[in-house]
Amino acid sequence: MDWDYQYRIDVTPWDKGAPAPPLLEWIKANPGTLSGSILIPGSGAGHDVRALASLTKCSPIIGLDVSEPATRLAVSFPTVGVETYQTADLFNLPAHHQNTYDWIWEHTCFCAINPDMRDTYVAAVHGALKPGGQLLAVFYLNPYDDEHPRGEGPPYGTSVEELKERFENSGKFKVDESYVPGQAYGGREGLEQVMRMTRLN
Ligand SMILES: C[S@@+](CC[C@H](N)C(=O)[O-])C[C@H]1O[C@@H](n2cnc3c(N)ncnc32)[C@H](O)[C@@H]1O
Repeated sequence: MDWDYQYRIDVTPWDKGAPAPPLLEWIKANPGTLSGSILIPGSGAGHDVRALASLTKCSPIIGLDVSEPATRLAVSFPTVGVETYQTADLFNLPAHHQNTYDWIWEHTCFCAINPDMRDTYVAAVHGALKPGGQLLAVFYLNPYDDEHPRGEGPPYGTSVEELKERFENSGKFKVDESYVPGQAYGGREGLEQVMRMTRLN
């Protein structure tokens, strides 16, 4: 996917103009739990970044996207709190991002990258978290069927089994929480899995 091109021509069907409902649901169910530094890879227009920036106790909050036009779009929104945005490749993170974050919020980055890069993704988020840091994520499951044609959602789905294999059985993470969210964007109901995992080692 040519992300720069998609943002430049303003064809970004993944952008729902609002934070991910499963993120808002999790925050409501776990008040005060998020604190410290948060990285949001593949942050796009930054709706989730700004939702996290509205919380107290969280700083710094960094939206990271490989696409410069995405970063420009994100910074065009009014600032909510201490959030900042950076253009960088998750797979080639500058050293100052290593062992740095208390939390990472994942939403439609894992499902957007080529599946061949998934183990590299796991290594990248593992490396960016502090030891004991947590990955909070909503993953798009195998989303395509007769009712949900390809082209209406992120390019690559996954399964709970694959997620456990790549994150937990690799020895890099322990899964602490895993459920189908009650809240979703229209059309994604039942097609997502929220997971919270702790970085091991
Ligand atoms: C499907 S979009 C989702 C954007 C945002 N999370 C949302 O839901 O609106 C995937 C995003 O990941 C970004 N991305 C893809 N590969 C990346 C990488 N290697 N490092 C950082 N960002 C990446 C793209 O530029 C794009 O903004």
